[in-house]
Amino acid sequence: MTATQSPPRLIDDGELAGHSVVANNTMNRERVLTGVNSYARELGFDPAEFLDGCGPAPSWLDLCSGEGLALRAAAQRLPQAVITGVDLVGPLRTPALPDGLELVAADLGRWAPVRRYDLITCVHGLHYIGDRLALLERAASWLTDTGRLVAHFDPTTLRRPDGTDASRPVLAALRAAGFDYSARHHRLSLRGGRSIELPFTYLGADPDAGPNYTGQSAVASYYRQAV
Ligand SMILES: C[S@@+](CC[C@H](N)C(=O)[O-])C[C@H]1O[C@@H](n2cnc3c(N)ncnc32)[C@H](O)[C@@H]1O
Repeated sequence: MTATQSPPRLIDDGELAGHSVVANNTMNRERVLTGVNSYARELGFDPAEFLDGCGPAPSWLDLCSGEGLALRAAAQRLPQAVITGVDLVGPLRTPALPDGLELVAADLGRWAPVRRYDLITCVHGLHYIGDRLALLERAASWLTDTGRLVAHFDPTTLRRPDGTDASRPVLAALRAAGFDYSARHHRLSLRGGRSIELPFTYLGADPDAGPNYTGQSAVASYYRQAV
């Protein structure tokens, strides 16, 4: 945003959940586990292979899970795993779920798990979350002590109150909290569950921010930095 433009009207996350940018059926909600349009490709590793190395009862929480196709495939490969997917819309198809898989239709701004997980992923979901820093803080506390979190993240869609890019202070705070960020892959990652408090106050979301690096319309999130 340039100095001559005024900041947009921001909306709260309740309103955001019903906005066409978030609640639309054109986004890619059908990634499978491995192959071309897949979680393995987007995450840089096969979640089922990772879970296979997590002991006798591994657990995976996928935030913004869409149709949950990758989760279904992982549950079939690893019948002993506990796998949870959470999505605002939930799956639109409803074939019977394999054992160990739960698909929850809920707004992640209000949802919390009843257990901790070895793996937490968010494949191109944070782009649509208003208070995504709060979700990252909460998700960090949902990881096991040795767990792994990986989420696509576009820091340029984080804005200061005047609309300017807040990516530098946000990434600095995330790194200080223990996250790694790969700008090449737009992936944020964390090893080991922890309690995190990021020094930002959420102000609201701009659903009309336009396309992000994926080429799809995304939400910009506005924050005031604590001084
Ligand atoms: C681009 S799709 C990705 C779906 C899935 N991860 C995949 O790769 O196939 C983004 C998903 O985020 C979900 N979503 C957006 N806002 C959400 C919210 N507040 N809580 C839960 N899910 C949300 C949408 O319903 C959509 O299914």
